[in-house]
Amino acid sequence: MGTAALATLPILPTHALASPAYVLRPGAAEASLRGPDEPKTQVWVYNHSAPGPVIRIPRAKPVHIRVDNALPDPTTVHWHGIRIENAMDGVSGLTQQPIMPGASFDYRFTAPDAGTYWYHSHHRSWEQIARGLYGLLIVNEDTPVDVDADLAFIADDWRLDEAGQITEGFGALHEAAHRGRLGNWLTVNGDTKPKLNVSPNARVRLRCVSAANARVMAFELPGLTAHVIALDGQPLETPEILDGPLVLAPAQRVDLVIDMPGTPATFIINEVSVGDPIVAAELVVSGDALADRKNAAPLILPSNPLAQHQPDLENALHIDLLMQGGAMGGMTQATYKGQMFDMRTLVREHGQAWAFNGNAGKPVDPLVDLKAGQTAVIGMINDTRWPHAMHLHGHHFRVLEIDSKAVINAPWRDTHLMQPAERIKIAFVADNPGKWLFHCHMLEHHMAGMGTWINVA
Ligand code: C2O
Ligand code: CU
Repeated sequence: MGTAALATLPILPTHALASPAYVLRPGAAEASLRGPDEPKTQVWVYNHSAPGPVIRIPRAKPVHIRVDNALPDPTTVHWHGIRIENAMDGVSGLTQQPIMPGASFDYRFTAPDAGTYWYHSHHRSWEQIARGLYGLLIVNEDTPVDVDADLAFIADDWRLDEAGQITEGFGALHEAAHRGRLGNWLTVNGDTKPKLNVSPNARVRLRCVSAANARVMAFELPGLTAHVIALDGQPLETPEILDGPLVLAPAQRVDLVIDMPGTPATFIINEVSVGDPIVAAELVVSGDALADRKNAAPLILPSNPLAQHQPDLENALHIDLLMQGGAMGGMTQATYKGQMFDMRTLVREHGQAWAFNGNAGKPVDPLVDLKAGQTAVIGMINDTRWPHAMHLHGHHFRVLEIDSKAVINAPWRDTHLMQPAERIKIAFVADNPGKWLFHCHMLEHHMAGMGTWINVA
């Protein structure tokens, strides 16, 4: 389980013309989440491994991935962060019907931008991701980037009982109205405290992904200097030194570059979001030293086609999104499926605890209808006591403003972590036709109301 180095999926023989390049088989399996000496955990994963296999695809070339559903439940696969054709976005109930047990679905798409992405179930995601249905998706740069090691760091907090089994109670409403389902067992690449081996002087690219349902994780790398080179798959124009802990909200990605020292050593990567640090992984420097890069310039990734899709702020359409609800919030009522309910009835009878613009759950009508190519600016107010990881499908947006302060060099993101009471403005070009979900990636929040969609003509 848990490959630290990025092995790629075997490409199947292509004697049959129509054979897909990759086959993903979601199904039940066992995983050594707690280490080789502990009882195995029953999980739902892709291709028997937790996390699923690393999928590496070329940029700007069509790929074909078949999903054979070996689960007892329906499922879908979403390719998080890819500016994808709408019909391939994998959103159960919006862009496709779920894949029934025993059935298959062929995903065919072309990824326009290189970078670090992930794939995961988008059907009852609060349960299916918590059971392990996710994996790393890498879109290769056109020319390989000059690093000595390209390592996965996909973190998850599982909720395990004493026997090491995943606890049920998925989507419990009390949790959904608070932070969401928080786990009690941390893995990286499906392992407990894995050792990531690198050579002395190696320049390491660490692709950090959070697959947590709800926890906002934070990592420290004492003794190491790391540069942030990409956020949510998209390269930064100027790499930035990681200053303070690496904060990863659910679904966010951060690519780091770290130059290792020239002599053998072991560095701990700690998770520090709660009190005492927990060891997440170890970076073990050993073996023959590579050439010293101490004086080499920091790595800058080539820019993606996305960078040409700059928002036209002068002619933008402005939209407001008021986020309300949750425990200790002031929400008294909301519309659900076209009908108004008081908060108590909403929670008790409909399992809804959150609303966008007074509407709980995915509304019949989109938040906005946009013309292809139009720039949209969404002004969002988090009128709740909780943080939210807001994710827009099919597009990346630039965070222009936080609490009325302009953001310098506004980064491109597909998932932004909003703090309680925060107000932000995001902008994006609606250049991808279709129905795109816009939701909180704290999966229980989404389940309990925090989701809407936009329509691009
Ligand atoms: Cu990571 Cu709606 O998705
Ligand atoms: Cu949320």
